[in-house]
Amino acid sequence: MRDHGDYESYRGIPPLAGLCSMARAVDGTWDLDQSLRRLKRLHYVLKRLHETLTAKITAEPIYELKTAFSYHAYLCAEQVSLIRRRVGEMREPPLGLDVIPDPALERLMDEVIAAPSTPDLLAGIYGVVLPAACDACRRLQTDAHPLADAPTVRVAKLIAFELQDVVTFGTEALRCLDDDSTQADREPWIGHLNRCLQAAGQLDGVEASDESVPEPWHSAQPYQYDKEPRRDERFRDPYNAGVNPEVFLYDEQFSAQDKTLMMYYKRLREIDVPEMMASILVELRDEEPWEFHMEMSRQLWDEARHAMMGEVGFVALGIDWRTIPINFTWSRNLNLQLDARQRHGVLFFIEQNLMPRNGKRYEWEVANESGDPLSALFQDFDWADEVLHAQIGRRWYVPRYKTLKEALDYGDDCWSKVLSHWKSYRDQGLTQHHNWWPELYAKACQIWGKDPDPRALEFQATYEDTRADLAKLD
Ligand SMILES: [Fe+2]
Ligand SMILES: [Fe+2]
Repeated sequence: MRDHGDYESYRGIPPLAGLCSMARAVDGTWDLDQSLRRLKRLHYVLKRLHETLTAKITAEPIYELKTAFSYHAYLCAEQVSLIRRRVGEMREPPLGLDVIPDPALERLMDEVIAAPSTPDLLAGIYGVVLPAACDACRRLQTDAHPLADAPTVRVAKLIAFELQDVVTFGTEALRCLDDDSTQADREPWIGHLNRCLQAAGQLDGVEASDESVPEPWHSAQPYQYDKEPRRDERFRDPYNAGVNPEVFLYDEQFSAQDKTLMMYYKRLREIDVPEMMASILVELRDEEPWEFHMEMSRQLWDEARHAMMGEVGFVALGIDWRTIPINFTWSRNLNLQLDARQRHGVLFFIEQNLMPRNGKRYEWEVANESGDPLSALFQDFDWADEVLHAQIGRRWYVPRYKTLKEALDYGDDCWSKVLSHWKSYRDQGLTQHHNWWPELYAKACQIWGKDPDPRALEFQATYEDTRADLAKLD
């Protein structure tokens, strides 16, 4: 081979647009099939991770994990989309993206989703699968030809970059939940997961392997999605529907500042939307194309962000949100009483109704008027996100119906069908629907250094006969 050491670029400017050295570029050991093979294996694992994280949102009780799963599922969806686009550029179709690339990778992902406990799940995802994905991305970054296959290198780089923070979070979360005995109990299963990777010749298949695919362990009992929402112990009295914040929000006699409190509550309560949306994604997994899952995952993540904005709002005010009953009966009732299409209808109906003047714009105006810059900031972005969600609904929900009106009516009907169980939850002793508002409001007034508005103190509208859109229940 010739020595290229004497090659000179113009006045020493880095050659090849800075992609790599000339010495690296003249190396011809790479080809398109290898690139595709590795990308498809990574695609398979990230898609399964997206499914796994999404499926765990609903029944995972710990709020910090619910929100993190929402985020990480969204990141995986973005990464899957990046890879799909790149694969589509490389002389295929058929793209073959639905083919399982390796039975050992399938076993690995079947095992992880079947993890019997939250720490096991975290150890499987953040301790085994994601580090393996990062390694595969780094190898792809160095092995792919930096010039000829530059778009693949970019994809691998971006994914590895994003996944690093995800692994850090998961490792830290596991450390917080784990103790020595749970760790020791888990060791054999973690070894099993690593044997799956070995049998696959690693995630990207670069190592030779003559090992057979390990037998199912936890996945001997196939994973079943649990659609009943669960919350951790900080969520006290979650069946409480004794305060209707929408009635307060739209009542002109109350001040903008007082309404910011209700808006922070409404934001935090939105953690019920990821719980519900996850059920749509799980149940329509095979019925809808990837783009549906991609966009709905973005929306799901936005709703988790909205909940965290509410959490931040209370922290900024110096109010302990654990003292407020954060209701979960909306996601619970929808998940247990409706099918996925019906739930999607309800979601679209609610979000479409947030668009007219008395919806998200109104909340933003109230926040602006309140003099609370944090509330104004959050409502500004909340509004922008909801505009996006209405568009996502128009793309993926409305076309199933003849007209927009028919689509809206269907959602409205489905929502009307949902039994709120207001009385029965009370009769079963699950809640007393205690009116938590006056106490919270008095506390906030103390912090604000003002006298409570006596009319606001007396507020006592509930959800007993009124929906969140103020429609009357029969
Ligand atoms: Fe939202
Ligand atoms: Fe939304």
